[in-house]
Amino acid sequence: MKAAVSTRYGPPDVVRIVEVRKPAPKEGELLVKVHATTVNRTDCGPRAAKPFIVRFFTGLVRPRLTVLGNEFAGEVEAVGAGVTSYAVGDRVFGFSGDRFGAHAEYLAIPEDGSIATMPASLTYEEVAPSTEGSHYALTAIRGAKIRGGQDVLVNGATGAIGSAAVQLLKHLGATVTAVCGGEHLGLVRGLGADRVIDYRAEDFTKDDQSYDVVFDAVGKSSFGRCRRLLKPRGIYLPTDLGPLSLNPVLALITPMFGGRKVMFLIPRRDPGMARHVKELIESGQFKPLIDRRYRLDQIVEAYRYVETGQKIGNVVITVEHGGNQSR
Ligand SMILES: NC(=O)c1ccc[n+]([C@@H]2O[C@H](COP(=O)([O-])OP(=O)(O)OC[C@H]3O[C@@H](n4cnc5c(N)ncnc54)[C@H](OP(=O)(O)O)[C@@H]3O)[C@@H](O)[C@H]2O)c1
Repeated sequence: MKAAVSTRYGPPDVVRIVEVRKPAPKEGELLVKVHATTVNRTDCGPRAAKPFIVRFFTGLVRPRLTVLGNEFAGEVEAVGAGVTSYAVGDRVFGFSGDRFGAHAEYLAIPEDGSIATMPASLTYEEVAPSTEGSHYALTAIRGAKIRGGQDVLVNGATGAIGSAAVQLLKHLGATVTAVCGGEHLGLVRGLGADRVIDYRAEDFTKDDQSYDVVFDAVGKSSFGRCRRLLKPRGIYLPTDLGPLSLNPVLALITPMFGGRKVMFLIPRRDPGMARHVKELIESGQFKPLIDRRYRLDQIVEAYRYVETGQKIGNVVITVEHGGNQSR
């Protein structure tokens, strides 16, 4: 089968489309014929080995996992022994997380992973980008125990995580102020934001409203700058290490003082996440935001675009099989 393979760390052009052995599903695994996947920020770190600490998880000198890609939508081609929840021909989507492997024509994935059958309303390309942003957004929302009625500011509301967070927060009944570039204010209102701030026209950290949670979904602020926006027991919730990689340290220290604090959450495996997202898609409360689409053989270009930090939502990769277009 064809796969996008990187056998060394480096810039996007270390990735090559080559023939590799098609995986065989082990006991409890599905073999998925991938029709669509994405390139996202979770792929960029292990490909480039940035930050350096990534190497302690992915291989010190060379990457142990040579095929990246963590979101997929496709069709079950075969099932391993003992699989009971899915059958050959099922249309499925999901998140392979740190197993990666989705930048390929076929992916073997445990049936108890974050997988669900596809919502009837979306195509493979539309549903593939629904899980990575949701995974990090849900980790943050659940970790900070955000409830309906709370005031939440989302910085970076047009990113994969931010656009998922706005929709997931509205589903919970939170009041959402979203920060994004001026040309996307309408788009972000369409995701459900109650109020929008153009970060190019206004410094959101000078806003007069106060918030239960400031969720920085794009790594462009700091606890120091956002502290004044927080209510007395408010939470600063970043998805990034922050300036000088201080966010994890602040998350250890700030709770000791009992007031405003930083929470830095390490995402955990969540087998129910894809099913939850499917329910929200089916009830019309979630729709993944899609920017550009590329074919698998254009994946280097897709990486370059993702690394501009300017993608709007998600970048989809269409995987064609012998000339068949994915649906
Ligand atoms: N914790 C983890 O394991 C993990 C995993 C994945 C990602 N991350 C981190 O989470 C962050 C978000 O990832 P993502 O994939 O959601 O990002 P993304 O999709 O690449 O975000 C890009 C978006 O951010 C917006 N943006 C850029 N500069 C901004 C600014 N100063 N203020 C507000 N919005 C701005 C851009 O919109 P405009 O064009 O309008 O500027 C663009 O729409 C990244 O920093 C990434 O490193 C962490």
